[in-house]
Amino acid sequence: MTRLTRRTFAQLTASAVALAVSPRIVRAEDDWRIGFRTAPETFDAELTRLEGRLPSELSGSFYRIGPAQFERGGERLGHWFDGDGMIQRFAIADGRVTHRGRFVDTPKRRAEKAAGRFLYTGYGFAPKNLTGIRAPDDLNAANTNVLPIAGEVWALWEGGSPYRIDAETLATLGRKAFDGGLNGVAFSAHPKTEPSGDTWNFGVIGKRCVLWHLAPDGTTRKAKLIELPEASLMHDFAITARHIVLLAPPLLRREGPASTLVDSYAWQPGKPLTALVLDKNTLEIVRRHELPARFLYHIGNAWEDADGAIRLDACLDADATFAVKTARDLALGLAQAPLSARPSLITLPPSGAGVIATLQGVGEFPRIDPRRVGERHRITHGVTEGGVATWDWERGVSETYLHPPGTWSEEPVFVPRKGAMGERDGWLIQTALDMRAGRTQLCIFDARRTTDGPIARLTCPYALPLGFHGTFVAA
Ligand SMILES: [Fe+2]
Repeated sequence: MTRLTRRTFAQLTASAVALAVSPRIVRAEDDWRIGFRTAPETFDAELTRLEGRLPSELSGSFYRIGPAQFERGGERLGHWFDGDGMIQRFAIADGRVTHRGRFVDTPKRRAEKAAGRFLYTGYGFAPKNLTGIRAPDDLNAANTNVLPIAGEVWALWEGGSPYRIDAETLATLGRKAFDGGLNGVAFSAHPKTEPSGDTWNFGVIGKRCVLWHLAPDGTTRKAKLIELPEASLMHDFAITARHIVLLAPPLLRREGPASTLVDSYAWQPGKPLTALVLDKNTLEIVRRHELPARFLYHIGNAWEDADGAIRLDACLDADATFAVKTARDLALGLAQAPLSARPSLITLPPSGAGVIATLQGVGEFPRIDPRRVGERHRITHGVTEGGVATWDWERGVSETYLHPPGTWSEEPVFVPRKGAMGERDGWLIQTALDMRAGRTQLCIFDARRTTDGPIARLTCPYALPLGFHGTFVAA
């Protein structure tokens, strides 16, 4: 295995080669608020081709999910992360794309529809008239990520159960029932499926953390509850061949009353970003590393080198402003804020503190070739403001493509070409909201040449609410 050289790290730290993101000029007609409107109950349409051609080999379903309910009973939702989830399916076949969108039919949504108002507090929103809960799944908005598993798609949230979705019709099949008294236990929205087909996940409840290991058929191979050193708000995690890595930012549980989850945490910049390394066999913490204080939502991937160092890439922010302010302002239609997270490579040596090397430019929603989960990767794709970015960790290069002005771009997903092994040999699929046309586009890039722009651009006849994450399932 080739190791990253000292020189490479110097290049990365200096961000020697990078195409900086130019400032975007937002005009009055670039109304980003259309991405935060309540969706109709269903979407069904065929997309229209705007430019280019769909690759004939690209065939399958591109799923995405995100919040899609922003008001009820005259009350506006107060935090982006709390909207009821709507799952989208773009079915790609024979040069055509059809789109379908359906809300996940959760007990929360049913209860609030019946009441005609919001009932429950969530990640960052507390409605005027709160209703008590009996279990975490009473709050489950099923809005954060989609996991293809066992022929189904699971709609994920981070504080409770997955919801099983029919992969074709998008009908909600019910809450995923796990054996062994694990029903309703936190199953985060960022599980990792390794090349073997096994899936790993974590779920956090305060200082307690559940570690999950699932078989390809969705049954539980192993699950264990461990105690964390501190109660930190964690959204994502990573695996390597032998280890699990938790990155705990210093957004820590505080004393005193709080009306929402995020308000029960406080940013403590004097404390480190802590990396906890666990053994995949024993599910015990075996190493702890301290890094400078940073907040993060997302990790691209992790791997371990022969010298015992673990390397992982993540999009690191200076603090947790997005969670506590920006995501509220967006949902309320008050203000948007520029992307501020930076794509970064973290090295965790066998002992001692960790090191962060940051690329130039901003980025979020990191995604890698799904065949390399837990193994060494060189390339991560992500979103940058109004475009798509490709980060090369060996060369220390950030390449970007910017959509036409007035476009809000979303998470790109890499789809490998069938039979190809190269890390860029495939396509990137990305949805993008054309704020001027008021329509959502589907853009396909050749992942070897993302800076050339999409090889095919299609449009829905409507705008979709801006979402979080997606996945592609080949036909
Ligand atoms: Fe996420």
